[in-house]
Amino acid sequence: MNETQHDPAAATWPPRFRWGVATSAFQIEGATRADGRTDSIWDTFTRRPTAVADASNADTACEHYRRMPADVALMAELGVDTYRFSVAWPRVQPRGRGPVNPAGIGFYDRLVDRLLHHGIDPWLTLYHWDLPQELEDAGGWPHRDTAHRFADYATLVFDALSDRVTTWTTINEPWCVATYGYADGIHAPGRTDFPAAMAAAHHLLLGHGLAVDAMRTAATPSHRFGITLNLGGVHADPAAADQARRADGLNNRFYLDALVHGRYPHDVLDDLAARAVTLPIADGDLPTIATPIDVLGVNYYFDTTLTAAGETRRDPLTGMGWPVTPHGLTDLLLRLTREYPGLPLVVTENGSAYPDRPDPRGYVDDTERAAFLQAHVAATAAAIARGADVRGYFVWSLLDNFEWGHGYGPRFGIVRVDYDTQQRIPKASAHRYAELIRSSRP
Ligand code: NOJ
Repeated sequence: MNETQHDPAAATWPPRFRWGVATSAFQIEGATRADGRTDSIWDTFTRRPTAVADASNADTACEHYRRMPADVALMAELGVDTYRFSVAWPRVQPRGRGPVNPAGIGFYDRLVDRLLHHGIDPWLTLYHWDLPQELEDAGGWPHRDTAHRFADYATLVFDALSDRVTTWTTINEPWCVATYGYADGIHAPGRTDFPAAMAAAHHLLLGHGLAVDAMRTAATPSHRFGITLNLGGVHADPAAADQARRADGLNNRFYLDALVHGRYPHDVLDDLAARAVTLPIADGDLPTIATPIDVLGVNYYFDTTLTAAGETRRDPLTGMGWPVTPHGLTDLLLRLTREYPGLPLVVTENGSAYPDRPDPRGYVDDTERAAFLQAHVAATAAAIARGADVRGYFVWSLLDNFEWGHGYGPRFGIVRVDYDTQQRIPKASAHRYAELIRSSRP
């Protein structure tokens, strides 16, 4: 990288480059019993005594359900032009099937109006992990019918909001849903069944394809459809080369090849067959999964380095113990450009948790988070300078929030949430991000 690319403010950004912040429904909304919402698998999972590190749940979270207008005003103050949020399926279609719940969709209707009022473009994710519990009881993602239920739900939300929402993401991080939820058991629904996890992965992709096809039939040319994947580079010394190939295969290529080329990678299928796992692929599934999309959402946190002894993590590390590897974001965006050409990219999540130390007034001078942000924005600029078609960058996250199995310990927000008072206090990183956005605009 040359000096210009090190300084994001001096970089040349494509016209209409999006600067955003991201959240998800379960992590911030609270009000889990309001207005007809039913349990999601995460409500159930958090009731398991040891499932969440601090034994917390998301019944209150950031009380965003009640504080939404003020939260949107805060985004406007920061100067972001895009807000990536998710819709809670169990609010909109309690129990996972049947007609729309007017009170549930009403919240998102008001949110979208608020955003547009402030000139912020809504970027809607349909599924950020809160499957209605009744659908899990009927088999969950390993069960094919869930993909069809998802497409029905997508249609309901599209009917209600597509007059104002142009960008639609189907699923957030299907790898995490399948692997953490169904193989490792560390996320809801907490199952540990590898073949079921691989069936879930296939059905998540199928649900994505069915939903895009269904929404596309009712769409106008201005609507944009996509999916968000968690992607990252895998590096290895020669002794771990095969492990690296497998990790890259299961985490990255499995999803990308299916979505872009309509096939699963041969080496991954061979590895699965060696473990007696076959994917439940029916005729027509792969073309459905590969239905054209308009944008690929890239969630990037870190690259992985493997040695024969396992994964190694070198300093510096974030509060999650994740290595800080901004160059990996440049490499990833360039790899996607090279290997999956023609697909516009948006960094739909990037961010870091650090042990924040608020001063007596609650202000956090989070130098490390601000530096992390700056380095990754610069890494995005470097990829663009080298030919990657990247259309936006969204910080994870606007607010400190419920970090899944870790509870409220890790704080990813650029805005501090005081959970006792629900006060929002922008951290130094929020001010830095606002400046960066301002200076990037012509
Ligand atoms: C990815 C997930 O989409 C989000 O929900 C989570 O909080 C962040 N990564 C940080 O782990």
